[in-house]
Formats: sequence, C-alpha cells, structure tokens
Amino acid sequence: MTDTATKNIAVLVGSLRKESFSRKVALALQELSPPSLALDIVEIGELPFYNQDLEVEPPPAPWAKFRDRVRAASGVLFVTPEYNRSVPAVLKNALDVGSRPYGKSVWSGKPGAVVSVSPGAIGGFGANHHLRQSLVFLDVLTLQQPEVYLGGADKLFDAAGKLSNDAARKLLTSLLERYAELVARNARS
Ligand code: FNR
Repeated sequence: MTDTATKNIAVLVGSLRKESFSRKVALALQELSPPSLALDIVEIGELPFYNQDLEVEPPPAPWAKFRDRVRAASGVLFVTPEYNRSVPAVLKNALDVGSRPYGKSVWSGKPGAVVSVSPGAIGGFGANHHLRQSLVFLDVLTLQQPEVYLGGADKLFDAAGKLSNDAARKLLTSLLERYAELVARNARS
C-alpha cells in the first residue's frame, strides 16, 4: 500500500529477454526504492511499431494504454541494455509512441533517471547517452548524478537472479535517493 506522499514512477526496461540483466536490475531498484517512490514496470514489448498512419482516433489500444500509464506517473526511470552503442529498438519505439500525437507527449516535464546495464566493461555508456539525447528533446528532467553504467552485469547476480553485488546495490540506492529528491522538487502530479 502507498501513502499519499508516494510518487508512482513508470519503469521502462529496454530488453524483452526472459533472463534480462536489465530487468533484474529494475527488480532490484523496486526492492531498494525509498518509501516516497513506488516503482511500476510498464511493459513495452507489445507496442506496435510507431507508424504515423496509425495515429487516428482511436489509436492502437496498446499505444493508448501505454500513454495513459506513463501520463499518470510522476516520473520515468529507464533501465536499458546497449545494442550496437545505442538503445534497443523496442525502447526507442516506446519513446516515439509516448511522444505523439504532436503536442500531447506523455514525457514532457517528467523527472527521469537512466540506468544502463551490460556484461561489457563500459556498462552501456553509449546507450545511456543516446537515450539522454532523446530525453533532452522530450523535455524529461533527467537526473545527472550519480551516473549509472552497470558493467560486468553477468557477475552481479546470485543463483536466484537477485542483485547480490554490494557496490552495485549501493550505487543504485544512491541513485534512488537523488532521484527521489528530483521527483519531490519537480513532479507535477
Ligand atoms: C548486444 N550487446 C552489446 N553490449 C554492449 O555492451 N554494447 C553493445 O553495443 C552491444 N550490442 C549488442 C547488440 C545486440 C543486437 C545484442 C543482442 C546484444 C550485448 C548485450 O549487452 C547483452 O546481450 C545483454 O545481456 C543484453 O541485455 P539484457 O537482455 O541482459 O538486459
């Protein structure tokens, strides 16, 4: 149960893989989040590819449902892998779907945060910053520090899939504390 001061945060995971490290990190964020934030994973795998021809009344039902859920959230938190030094197409598609119809973007003014995750050494830096480029245009007030590039992701979890690395848990906790402050200062709903 959440009290009235609790802000609902839409969490978007940029991987559809069942055993996704990014999804496991999103679950760890849920567990570590302070009482002022309620993290809610909003699924993006069923969204039809953005096509302006489909932007009619009514739009595709999965688009409408997704837009309503993000619009109702006080903030947005992205947890993403890196594909070819950028974000996976499924996440870019979700950004595009949420950005339209023109003038009715669901992203505008929302406090945001980005966590990139990779088994590689540089922790999805390219994806993290490509995503931030889109978020500038989409007017998402994105947390700047701490930056979180979670590298070596294949070694951060125990056999049950729980984030067991202390340094990673500490970094995510610190991100959540700073993000809660950003949300408290800027959330419009
Ligand atoms: C990758 N991977 C990858 N990793 C990375 O650090 N930088 C990259 O540019 C890429 N590029 C890339 C492209 C494609 C098409 C795939 C399928 C994979 C590896 C990627 O980090 C790895 O598969 C992760 O496990 C994907 O994240 P999830 O699904 O575990 O969250």
